[in-house]
Amino acid sequence: MDRNPQLNKNGELQHLLSIEGLPREVIERVLATADSFVGVTEREVKKVPLLRGKSVFNLFFEPSTRTRTTFEIAAKRLSADVINLNIAASSQSKGESLLDTIANLSAMQADIYVVRHASSGAPFLIARHVKPHEHVINAGDGRHAHPTQGLLDLYTLRHYKKDFTQLTVAIVGDVLHSRVARSLIHGLTTLGTPEVRVIGPQTLMPSGVEALGVHVYRDMREGLKGCDAVVMLRLQNERMRGALLPSAQEFFKHFGLTADKLALAKPDVIVMHPGPMNRGVEIDSSVADGPHSVILPQVTFGIAVRMAVMSMVGGASA
Ligand code: CP
Repeated sequence: MDRNPQLNKNGELQHLLSIEGLPREVIERVLATADSFVGVTEREVKKVPLLRGKSVFNLFFEPSTRTRTTFEIAAKRLSADVINLNIAASSQSKGESLLDTIANLSAMQADIYVVRHASSGAPFLIARHVKPHEHVINAGDGRHAHPTQGLLDLYTLRHYKKDFTQLTVAIVGDVLHSRVARSLIHGLTTLGTPEVRVIGPQTLMPSGVEALGVHVYRDMREGLKGCDAVVMLRLQNERMRGALLPSAQEFFKHFGLTADKLALAKPDVIVMHPGPMNRGVEIDSSVADGPHSVILPQVTFGIAVRMAVMSMVGGASA
């Protein structure tokens, strides 16, 4: 059987490409390592020397606010040199291939590539071609995977709810196009979450999604009953082919998270969203900014989680 391409021969992270296939111990090690970095991010001097002398290249072929910025902050807090390649102004526009771009960055002594790409599988392709001392971190590929988002979602859930084996988690909205949903589902099932629900219209639900170990709900009110956490997803119009919904207003009526729908979940439910949010489409402002929302803490935890991932692939630890 082929070895997991993300792990080296000692079972340590070589690349982070997907949560699917990651052993439970590796996920738990990321979360535990992130714990130690939360302390660093709360210090007055928020820096440790773990990646001093290393070069991290941020390669974002798709737009990003949270992931790109928190990777940059995380790399700087680990004392790495960070290079943000401006893709629009790069030689991609002159027809240079992805692998030729990587080969040139390798010639500049890159150590870690953080890659977001519209094509599912692009970070896997890069990982197959880099040198043994170089590492690839998937920052979101097509609709396939967004592993650091999944890990920061797991970190947030563990922070507020402690025990994955006691949780009911609902993921709501455009599951079909969501790399965030796929990564979180794999993480939750690997960590033993007994009840993972996906809620959304049939047109936005992958066929056969039950095979991932989730329960499907078409009725949001039914699906929210008794939930410990609700994870809202954005309608990913940029990935939709044809009209999958009557209108955004109709979607909000049936699948938008409002205070009255949220009242069906447990009284101490937390509300999560990976961002960017579309208020009034998948979530009402009263909920996004309300007492159950942990949407902004998710962003903050993302720094410590990305520090953990980069330190682990880089062979350093806190
Ligand atoms: N959650 C997320 O991936 O957000 P960005 O697109 O802003 O990075």
